[in-house]
Amino acid sequence: MSSTILLFLSLAVSAVASPLRPKFYSESCPQAEQIVRDVMKKAMERETRSVASVMRLQFHDCFVNGCDGSLLLDDTPNMLGEKLALSNIDSLRSYEVVDEIKEALEKACPGVVSCADIVVMASRDAVALSGGPNWEVKLGRVDSLTASQEASNKIMPSPRSNATYLIDLFKRFNLSVKDLVALSGSHSIGKARCFSIVFRLYNQSGTGRPDPTIEPSFREKLDKLCPRGGDESVVGGLDATPVIFDNQYFKDLVKGRGFLNSDQTLFTFPETREYVKMFSLNQSAFFDAFVEGMIKMGDLQSGRPGEVRRNCRVVNKRPGEALIDVDR
Ligand code: HEM
Repeated sequence: MSSTILLFLSLAVSAVASPLRPKFYSESCPQAEQIVRDVMKKAMERETRSVASVMRLQFHDCFVNGCDGSLLLDDTPNMLGEKLALSNIDSLRSYEVVDEIKEALEKACPGVVSCADIVVMASRDAVALSGGPNWEVKLGRVDSLTASQEASNKIMPSPRSNATYLIDLFKRFNLSVKDLVALSGSHSIGKARCFSIVFRLYNQSGTGRPDPTIEPSFREKLDKLCPRGGDESVVGGLDATPVIFDNQYFKDLVKGRGFLNSDQTLFTFPETREYVKMFSLNQSAFFDAFVEGMIKMGDLQSGRPGEVRRNCRVVNKRPGEALIDVDR
């Protein structure tokens, strides 16, 4: 006998992440990695800095409840997102590049590739396209159903941080002192605002004096770029070669030419200094350690259920109750 049963079913909207692995999309969306690389290349042609800006998103996403694309969610009336958190507001940028990647992927393979994975692939591409190492990324992350501005405020470090603070912070994420120094080498590309350094130019630790570890001629340059009382949205390169991913950042630190306090402190503090010296002398040791650190950072997961968002800025619409005919 055939009877029609009305079933109220909450469709499977969330999934728990399976273990991350390389080539996760090789069957479901074989062109995924190429699509990401192509859009990143185009973004770089439009604006060189944009790839550095996208790469930074991995750090700010992964440290806050794991790599789950939570950073990419716009605020809603019921949720304060992470975009306006202390370290992110007026600072993180190039979200539109992620949107562009997502759009291209949705055209090719609708509903398959998560925004969290896009951030990880795009960050790798940013480094490779800037002359740094290329590596295979593990994939299969799911996107969060929410975001936490509060968690971001608590976790993301200020540019004033010193090495001891950063060592402790990174340890909480299973990242070693070596990982910290290597990952800070991401500042080999990109720019920062005067806002992030005026305290060290004019009032380091409330002394009313500049940070004594800044090399004098570099300080003169920074003073010109960021005069007292000037426009703090002006930007300067994080190292002497801000569009090339290389070990110049570490060479700069050894000379007292680090841009951020959090950068220079890696050379000032003995626990981190040896790594800075080593990476300044050996670019391939830096590249190897950087890749290892990025993979470890990419492994951070919240373990919470998630979904593959259709639009990285908003959680998918809940289908609610669906009316389904079942034949018996
Ligand atoms: C170790 C602790 C870190 C601190 C304290 C820190 C802090 C900062 C600050 C203050 C800026 C400039 C923001 C502004 O002035 O608007 C910046 C830029 C940047 N950070 Fe970090 N960062 C850290 C680690 C990392 C890591 C682990 C990555 C990536 C793996 C990263 C990638 C970047 C990039 C690429 C930029 C330049 C972005 C652009 O040009 O738009 N940072 N960081």
